[in-house]
Amino acid sequence: MTSDTRIVKPLAQTGMSFEAIKQHLAQIQVPEPHAHFARAFRGPKDVQEVGKYAFQQFMSDNGFFSLYLPYMQTIEQEVIAMGVSLLHPTATSTGNFTSGGTESNFSALHAAKEWARAKRPQVRKPNVVAPFTIHPSFQKAARYLDMDIITTDLDENGRGIAKNIAAAINADTIMVAASAPTWHYARIDPIPAIAKVAADAGLWMHVDACVGGYISPFLEELGEKLTPWDFRVPGVMSISADLHKYGYCPKPASTIFWREDDLQQYHYVAVEDHFLGLYKLAGFSGSRSAGSIFAAWAVMSYLGREGYLRLARQLLVMKQRLVREVNAIEGLRMWDVDVMPLHFHSEHGDTGALYQGLLEKGWIMLGLHHPEAITITLDAAFGDAEADLFMKDLRDVAQACRAGKASKAGDIRYA
Ligand SMILES: Cc1ncc(COP(=O)(O)O)c(C=O)c1O
Repeated sequence: MTSDTRIVKPLAQTGMSFEAIKQHLAQIQVPEPHAHFARAFRGPKDVQEVGKYAFQQFMSDNGFFSLYLPYMQTIEQEVIAMGVSLLHPTATSTGNFTSGGTESNFSALHAAKEWARAKRPQVRKPNVVAPFTIHPSFQKAARYLDMDIITTDLDENGRGIAKNIAAAINADTIMVAASAPTWHYARIDPIPAIAKVAADAGLWMHVDACVGGYISPFLEELGEKLTPWDFRVPGVMSISADLHKYGYCPKPASTIFWREDDLQQYHYVAVEDHFLGLYKLAGFSGSRSAGSIFAAWAVMSYLGREGYLRLARQLLVMKQRLVREVNAIEGLRMWDVDVMPLHFHSEHGDTGALYQGLLEKGWIMLGLHHPEAITITLDAAFGDAEADLFMKDLRDVAQACRAGKASKAGDIRYA
């Protein structure tokens, strides 16, 4: 927060009434459907109800205890078991529940660093080699962990190139990472070729499937031809997959999976010599709401394979509609994607103005800074009524841009 946005407002002497609080919150909340994309990724109303119910029931329980209180441990482990069952696991594949893709990727880097400490003691400052499109949570985690991220050029379709990865590996490399898919181009990197490079070099291979983890298995079942990226690919040692994206579970919820259970030992940090006794938790957080663990269990149990398949089918139909209708607007181009999210840009070079125009109509959009594009974080809660309004507004904004009545270009950003 910059100094000019800092609010100086001390804690009030007398509390507000619940009624006044509800009114205030209702007043500042961005209404639907305009906040839709910023609230992604939710399932349809019934799925949201299930998640909300379970979340509220367990909101005050402390996830701190998930490694040893049986009622909580069982639920967390059932979430892991349901998740890993989608990834062509080995007999001992397992995982951990985390707060999101950032923590899942952080956990992968941390585990690889600990693994390398044991297996590659000659490494001085560990680095990770990954395609250019690797999510910024890797650079963030690397900063915390004092590691480096080396990025490599993409092919003309926005996918990583195994040969470039091989060329970038050096004596301090401990991990190769790639995405299934990337956020940037929604492309799946050539995981089999990249994992082979990693295996040949004796390195840890991580797949960031934060976006695709809980949808690609169902898209594949529906006949989409996707590059294999999960544990069926030899050499893949860990996978991050976000429950709070296409798992349709309430935030904060993600999973980090380990190919074999003996890799999980590198995840845990046990402080054994503290006067409080053994301090060993499931992940990075200390106290955390157990609400999201129970909510994830509830949503996954409610949907089952059939439910996820139905929502994936629904998503494909909406994707086709949006691709068709956005491309029908003069100058606008939807990008070809392997999975999700959807991105489009204006061939007239006014994507920034388009973005700003949508913002002024109330739509909170995510976007890409370079090359400029507007992102549609499509989820199964986006129905025909929402699409009708969005497409009407988009057509109006595009028309205004063409007529020279565009807004000043907005600063397109992802976060
Ligand atoms: C490919 C990828 N990895 C990681 C993340 C980080 O996820 P989160 O925002 O849940 O921390 C994202 C978020 O969009 C992502 O797209």
